[in-house]
Amino acid sequence: MAKTIIVSNRLPLKVQKKDTGITFETSEGGLATGLGSVYKQGDNLWIGWPGLWLEEEQDQEYVRTELLKENMQPVFLTETEIKEYYEGFSNETLWPLFHYFSQYAVYEQQLWEAYLAVNRKFCTEVMKFAQSEDTIWVHDYQLLLLPQLLREQLPGANIGFFQHIPFPSFEIFRLLPWRRRIIQGLLGADLIGFHTYDDMRHFLSSANRLLGYGNLHGLVDTGKRAVLVDAFPMGIDYEKYAALAVDPETIKLEQDFRQAIGTQRVIVSIDRLDYSKGIPNRLHAFELFLKRYPEFQEKVSLVMIVVPSRDTVEKYKRLKEEIDELVGRINSSYRTISWNPIQYFYRSFPLPEISAFYRLADVCLVTPMRDGMNLVSKEFIASKYDQKGVLILSEMAGAAQELADAIQINPNNIDRMADAIYEALSLPEQEQIAQMSAMQTLIKTYDIHQWVKVFMDRLSYVKIKQQSFTTD
Ligand code: G6P
Repeated sequence: MAKTIIVSNRLPLKVQKKDTGITFETSEGGLATGLGSVYKQGDNLWIGWPGLWLEEEQDQEYVRTELLKENMQPVFLTETEIKEYYEGFSNETLWPLFHYFSQYAVYEQQLWEAYLAVNRKFCTEVMKFAQSEDTIWVHDYQLLLLPQLLREQLPGANIGFFQHIPFPSFEIFRLLPWRRRIIQGLLGADLIGFHTYDDMRHFLSSANRLLGYGNLHGLVDTGKRAVLVDAFPMGIDYEKYAALAVDPETIKLEQDFRQAIGTQRVIVSIDRLDYSKGIPNRLHAFELFLKRYPEFQEKVSLVMIVVPSRDTVEKYKRLKEEIDELVGRINSSYRTISWNPIQYFYRSFPLPEISAFYRLADVCLVTPMRDGMNLVSKEFIASKYDQKGVLILSEMAGAAQELADAIQINPNNIDRMADAIYEALSLPEQEQIAQMSAMQTLIKTYDIHQWVKVFMDRLSYVKIKQQSFTTD
């Protein structure tokens, strides 16, 4: 019977090697939840990197055996592959370029070769399990070459690809020396999905400019096979967040937080440590807000959670220092004995605590310079059980296309961001409820389960479409 194989760089779990042995922690991420209904069924599988370097063969065997129980298969990366493929080409070339930080991107032949080699390694791993009638769904920018590599081996397979980060405009994408290979790599798929219509349009434009392929309503004519390119804005597990927000444990946590923080209004922000998230700009805006509206001093605190990420990459290390310094400066300038303007945490929190922070927050501040989607904005909305609270959202996040009822800002406009904070804290309750309920209705309907279903249905549809597709 045909099966479905999910492939992503990282498996949906956290594996750690400690003195006491190897530990496994399942991921609570949205993608893992959404795809749970797929990879946990029958012979279906999720193939990916367990996220750490394991040198010893016996450790690898142990991890392989344990993962198999969860329908997962590991792809082990060597220390050099982690450096050159993961930290290097994925996160020092593609990540900055695709987020419009082209000045950060490094272009090195050796990193490209490692990227190609690891994409081949993933292909070899998939080929141990895949058969020609199977469906293979590849995820994200670390594996852009994989669809074509798989197509060469399995001409008839159903191959889907989804990109979780932005796809840049051609003027940015063309900076990449290996740009044609990337487009060819992706066009090995039958269906290529992006979060937004703009990402999709950028990809189609690059396919046209670099390879001369035209398209009709997103159906790209490659001469051999038609490939459908479409937008699938990713949702969250709405019910999970809504239920967690009214769970007695979360309510208790919120009460504890409230007691510790006092009567102040609360602005919350939660991100991975990343320059694409616009954290310094947000801090500058908050500082300007305190200066411009002094009546809010001692009355409002910014609870800022930064989750450690990619801290072996130089740019991330430097960003961490910049944030530490900014927070230190703002707090030391404005704080009083009983009030700290910014409560800064550099660590991750369990989901119930995140939910309690969302409950506590009057305002959620989401200010990326560029973001594929941004799920924090959606999680905040789903957690607002009484519909009170305001979302300030960067127009550079994919989510801004859907969340028109948020207060939208340009993250480069510090001046306007400071005023937006004031506006959000002053918004009458009736308006908060009207905005929040409109956004809740939307993200409840287009949740993660719906997203998986629509993508899978579309993949079946392309196969039918391909049969009737003629190039004339
Ligand atoms: C983004 C990417 C994912 C990635 C995640 C965490 O959401 O789209 O592909 O897994 O960041 O980054 P990491 O480098 O830790 O996997």
